Amino acid sequence: MFVVVGVTGGIAAYKTVHLVRRLIGEGHEVHVVPTEDALRFVGKPTWEAISRNPVTTSVHEDVATVRHVSLGQRADLVIVAPATANTLAKMAAGLADDLLGTTLLATTAPVVVAPAMHTEMWRHLATQENMRVLRSRGVHVVGPADGPLTGGDSGPGRMSEPDEIADAALAVVTAAEPGRAQDLAGLRVVVSAGGTREPLDPVRFLGNRSSGRQGVALAVAAADRGAEVTLVAAHIDGEVLGGLSDRVRVVSVGTALEMRDAVTDAASVADVVVMAAAVADYRPAAVAESKLTKETQGDRLTLELVENPDIVAGLAAGRMPGQTIVAFAAETSSGDELLERARRKRERKDVDLLVVNEVGWTRGFESADNEVVVIDRSGEVAAQASGSKREVADAVWDAVVTARR
Ligand code: C5P
Repeated sequence: MFVVVGVTGGIAAYKTVHLVRRLIGEGHEVHVVPTEDALRFVGKPTWEAISRNPVTTSVHEDVATVRHVSLGQRADLVIVAPATANTLAKMAAGLADDLLGTTLLATTAPVVVAPAMHTEMWRHLATQENMRVLRSRGVHVVGPADGPLTGGDSGPGRMSEPDEIADAALAVVTAAEPGRAQDLAGLRVVVSAGGTREPLDPVRFLGNRSSGRQGVALAVAAADRGAEVTLVAAHIDGEVLGGLSDRVRVVSVGTALEMRDAVTDAASVADVVVMAAAVADYRPAAVAESKLTKETQGDRLTLELVENPDIVAGLAAGRMPGQTIVAFAAETSSGDELLERARRKRERKDVDLLVVNEVGWTRGFESADNEVVVIDRSGEVAAQASGSKREVADAVWDAVVTARR
């Protein structure tokens, strides 16, 4: 694929080096178009070396190749990362006073922007109005994430991580591919994702390491394949949610009981429910009104936990005719034992498909990749997939489509 990466004048430009490396690593032809300001952060030699292509910023260079429009014309995808408030404003106004500006006007390819700026600038009505205009023109927006900013302050405005941007941008192109299977069209789908948190007191909780990435990938893949999607999200970083398309309805929840209510509500009209969330099996029997302290607890603290309802088992027990229920299982065992445990779990929960993956201290969580096995009602392996969480998501949907036939 021919990808143009526009880089504008923000400190996050250094992270875009990784984005370009990843795209090159995946075999794409990448042309970097920095603004003059961007070159104050990361210089031309870096972009040229990393993209293996010449880099210019002005419309007056390399005129013989009519570069000011040819890059945009040839592009299959344009990514602007970081996209400063100034560049977003110029894009909204259609200004073309440099090579990036002319490229953006000359292209009909999907455009993905990854805004990066201080929170105040992001929240300013001028920026928000520009974002509205850009979105209405079909520009895809990834992030910004909520987190530490360069000035030592914190809030929304941080550029999304390069891998998030790459995943979202490549998914936009895949979704736009003519002839892409719309095999989930007409289906209402619920995906749960993230990890629930069970409060102990006003400031502490019992939680888990689920990032929600696999669930978000499932939601986006379902939307790309034509489904109407509700994502029930428990504690998913804005950065991870940033890649969501506008077609996914997001319901945010905190605890397992909140997740049960939201999922049950959405499932009442759904054709498929995929429980990818890591739901706490237990919650504290009582939540302390005020912070537990060493003064009141002494040198040993015993917590009493009570079992949470098994949401997916409850859904499966009360499923509507024709409804497909999919559960996930994260297991620390491997090989035959993993499969045996998965078969038993599928039976116990009475779900149509069980997606099982091996996890451990260093596997499964927080990473961009995943490896799963899908078990069907007969106990057979219906699908096996490894790769990006998007690839795994598509394999799970393929198995759902097969199971519904
Ligand atoms: O039994 P285990 O927790 O391993 O099962 C995992 C699957 O069950 C996941 O799909 C998870 O979303 C779901 N689950 C649930 N309610 C719970 C615990 C897990 O729906 N209380």
